[in-house]
Amino acid sequence: MQKTFTLRPFSPEDLEEVMNINRICLPENYSPYFFMDLYERYPATFTIAKGSQGIMGYIMCRIERGFTSFVGFNLTKRAHLVSVAVLPEYQHKGVGTALLKNALKNMPQYRAKECFLEVRVSNTPAVEMYRKLGFLIVRRSRGYYADGEDANIMEKKLEKTTS
Ligand SMILES: CC(C)(COP(=O)(O)OP(=O)(O)OC[C@H]1O[C@@H](n2cnc3c(N)ncnc32)[C@H](O)[C@@H]1OP(=O)(O)O)[C@@H](O)C(=O)NCCC(=O)NCCS
Repeated sequence: MQKTFTLRPFSPEDLEEVMNINRICLPENYSPYFFMDLYERYPATFTIAKGSQGIMGYIMCRIERGFTSFVGFNLTKRAHLVSVAVLPEYQHKGVGTALLKNALKNMPQYRAKECFLEVRVSNTPAVEMYRKLGFLIVRRSRGYYADGEDANIMEKKLEKTTS
């Protein structure tokens, strides 16, 4: 498919549009403070996809300290994919993949060694996108969501960088 969007870092004037995409696409919604906090602390992993009609999608992440799910049980820095969404009319055109690849590329800037996320067990498009980018389902969290649905916890080790 011909690329009809560009990726750029989130900036504060995008807040209203991004919050609107979040409300349209997901039941998990957040306050303006929550979005701005992630932008201020982890700007390299808060990215938007922009097309001729406006913002098509966004991704935002948080860096946390926690135990690795991989061999060793070490305390390590982990990038938590907090939210990713693409407006319905632009879905399944590669936008989500581009946003996620860009966030994965930038996570090592914060010394994150792996990336993890929660996804509804029924959310096949998202689970498939994550699988295609190398995420594995490491466990299931029962009743994780407010409506009682289970989450799959998916994780991926990050590529080593020279920085
Ligand atoms: C999940 C989401 C971000 C994916 O973004 P996207 O731009 O539509 O995804 P892509 O076009 O990059 O697709 C990547 C892969 O995901 C899977 N996928 C995407 N949309 C799909 C669909 N409607 N049905 C089945 N698989 C789908 C496919 O495997 C696809 O690879 P392919 O193009 O080779 O078939 C998007 O569907 C979305 O915003 N959904 C609502 C919000 C959401 O669920 N966010 C994730 C919460 S954890």
